[in-house]
Amino acid sequence: MNVSIRSAIEGDLDSLVALLGVLFAIEADFRPDPARQRHGLALMLADPERSRVVVANRRDGLVVGMATGQLVVSTAEGALSAVVEDVVVERSERGRGTGRRLVEAIELWARYRGATRLQLLADRENAPALAFYERLGWRRTQLVALRRGGA
Ligand SMILES: CC(C)(COP(=O)(O)OP(=O)(O)OC[C@H]1O[C@@H](n2cnc3c(N)ncnc32)[C@H](O)[C@@H]1OP(=O)(O)O)[C@@H](O)C(=O)NCCC(=O)NCCS
Repeated sequence: MNVSIRSAIEGDLDSLVALLGVLFAIEADFRPDPARQRHGLALMLADPERSRVVVANRRDGLVVGMATGQLVVSTAEGALSAVVEDVVVERSERGRGTGRRLVEAIELWARYRGATRLQLLADRENAPALAFYERLGWRRTQLVALRRGGA
């Protein structure tokens, strides 16, 4: 296989920030800000009990994809739930199963940590991403995302 999935390390930060730049340019709710993205990723790497960052590493050494997961307590579940974010694959590598493997790696970690549910937010206009998640067995909910403050 041309691409392997592994945990991110600090040395990946430049590549991960670049990948998030690609993602945040697609999603209307976000604006790329490399310093903020770097800080957010560093916070996750510093808290491996609660967070997981996985990368897709091509055989030539390039990082060509990523996904993150963070645990929250769900009273609905009476258990942990994992918030999946930052799922992106370099354009030239799409359609080869890498996105699926990244999300599955986060799911495996979350289940191992005791999460009984996974959840995510996707841009309603991002039809390819919605089709991707549907293919992976995710379903839409009735919930609407709200937010206050932030960049
Ligand atoms: C969404 C994204 C991560 C998918 O990554 P990918 O590596 O191309 O996806 P995969 O090749 O692993 O596809 C997994 C499955 O989803 C399906 N799929 C992927 N993209 C699809 C699309 N645009 N339309 C329909 N199905 C799609 C694949 O056919 C595949 O099905 P299979 O496993 O049953 O054969 C990638 O397109 C991407 O980075 N998009 C830009 C960033 C983004 O929108 N991220 C999501 C934010 S919520």
